[in-house]
Amino acid sequence: TKNWVIAIDGYSSTGKSSISKVIAKRLGLIHMDTGALYRGITFYGLSHCQNADDSIDLQQLIDDLPNINLVFEKKNDELQLFLNGTNIDKEIRQPQVSANVSQVAKLPEVRAFLLDTQRNIAKTGGVIMDGRDIGTVVLPNADFKFFLTASTDERAKRRHLELLGFGENISIEEVKQNLIERDKIDSEREIAPLRQADDAILIDNSDLTKEQTIELMLSYIK
Ligand code: C5P
Repeated sequence: TKNWVIAIDGYSSTGKSSISKVIAKRLGLIHMDTGALYRGITFYGLSHCQNADDSIDLQQLIDDLPNINLVFEKKNDELQLFLNGTNIDKEIRQPQVSANVSQVAKLPEVRAFLLDTQRNIAKTGGVIMDGRDIGTVVLPNADFKFFLTASTDERAKRRHLELLGFGENISIEEVKQNLIERDKIDSEREIAPLRQADDAILIDNSDLTKEQTIELMLSYIK
């Protein structure tokens, strides 16, 4: 196996993470879901820096960053996320986190805070990292870059199914609105906005299954 560094960016719910997981296994790479880091900070904010109206006090969150220890630990070839010693892999998928994460990811202080964590993992190579700014900002020298997109309806359907699987009771319309809102904030922010790197391969998987998308991507990597 080569010590490849692979960057996968794209819109919400295009399957970036689940696809990356499979490709990582097939190629013997470590998979890092960088969205989990932004979700982890958001989860901290919702637990420790809440305003009276349940929104996050963003300034307090920024002031609190030095108190946040967010690390991935390797377990059975997968990375698990720990916030100040507690595993939060399940908590970060809550709709409340999804609804607030893009506001948190907009903050330059938060993005700077998470940059080292992401780059350190990639230092030795052998990694596939998925997110929004991996090919453009975090790992501009990645060996392979992909940019995933799909129609909004298809993405909403997929995310809705996934949430039902987690036991979350939420309507497909609500899921769709959250996707649209997040994509808008992520694309329009000033620092490291969501966009395709010039040298990234664009894949629209609206009409592709997960397996077909994986095969297509592997055909470029081989
Ligand atoms: O990938 P996921 O949907 O879990 O990401 C959650 C949010 O984290 C995104 O909507 C975006 O606001 C933020 N994010 C980011 N940069 C990344 C990964 C995620 O801004 N590299």
